[in-house]
Amino acid sequence: MFHTVICDLLGIRYPILQGALQGGGGVELVAAVSEAGGLGVLPTFGGTDQKLRADIAGVRARTNRPFGVNIMPMGRGITERCAATCIELGIPVVTTGRADPGEAVVRRLKAAGIKVVSVIPTVEHARRMEAEGVDAVVASGAEAGGHVGTVSTLPLVPQVVDAVKIPVLAAGGIGDARGFLAAFALGAVGIQMGTRFMATTESDLNDWGRDRLLAMRETDTIVTRAMTGATVRCIRTPEIAAYEDAVARGADTAELKDLAARVRTSRYGEDRSDRRQSAAGQVAGMITEVVAVRELLEAMLADATRLAERLPSVAKGRNDSTASMRRTDTSSSSGVAAAPKVYPSLEPQKSQ
Ligand SMILES: Cc1cc2nc3c(=O)[nH]c(=O)nc-3n(C[C@H](O)[C@H](O)[C@H](O)COP(=O)(O)O)c2cc1C
Repeated sequence: MFHTVICDLLGIRYPILQGALQGGGGVELVAAVSEAGGLGVLPTFGGTDQKLRADIAGVRARTNRPFGVNIMPMGRGITERCAATCIELGIPVVTTGRADPGEAVVRRLKAAGIKVVSVIPTVEHARRMEAEGVDAVVASGAEAGGHVGTVSTLPLVPQVVDAVKIPVLAAGGIGDARGFLAAFALGAVGIQMGTRFMATTESDLNDWGRDRLLAMRETDTIVTRAMTGATVRCIRTPEIAAYEDAVARGADTAELKDLAARVRTSRYGEDRSDRRQSAAGQVAGMITEVVAVRELLEAMLADATRLAERLPSVAKGRNDSTASMRRTDTSSSSGVAAAPKVYPSLEPQKSQ
């Protein structure tokens, strides 16, 4: 079940991509997702070529399954260097985020036999990437963690599906079987998740990030330019809120620069890598536990299968079908405990 064209295109078992998670997930997470049948994707943003090579070797030491490398086109030099390394090392899939890597880079990757999947925030961007020759696009809504546009997943995905001929995946706000199934209703052939994968035993998130993620409500994220200069959806911290307040009252450039530096240097402890800031999406509000990747994916797919079997009764207007979509076991965030505990009303009713 749930085998789609994207599985054949990328050589994966399930139509589930792990979005690149700079600061949130590296070698361990990527290998775990690919081993579990999805596509793990390595981040490269801000990293060196040496690190990329070491990460690729690390993933290959842990799994023989396909995985991807993400290119964030932050400058022509970095983009071309990263693409050249992917070609040299025979990476099967490259995803691109935030901006257009340029037609020449796409063409070079494709000529080397690499599948290229671009994350896009608008219909126009999707059309452009299709024209440049990418194999698929991920339509990522404004509720996503990381760099975001302004259009939400629900209206974005079907409009992109209608606008392009290549396969479309959905991202932004997907954290369990309900979001997974909804993506197919919108016309997508698979999904990309980021925030949900951060709350796994294999992610790189520090203790501060993990604790915050588990405690967050759906309103606890904020979109800011303080991190990279572009709009990034993050965990709301006092430092980011101060920066955004200053933007709203029209503070001058010097003050904004100072406040942005405070955001970027805020630490949880003494360790320089122990950041007290992280991108995260609105779906964080429904994450209540940290689980292993395999457990997460298997439970999600089992729940999705049961939900899909229930949907015909929605169409026929029988039963209180919406009740079967409601999570009634609040101790479990995503079908990771025994699956029936998550959607108990999916179990055959005695009266039926
Ligand atoms: C901590 C974090 C880091 C991210 N880093 C990147 C990145 O380096 N490159 C990229 O293309 N997308 C990045 N993203 C976006 C994700 O790959 C993914 O598209 C997004 O998280 C999907 O939305 P969701 O968070 O609602 O699942 C990041 C997201 C988060 C939460």
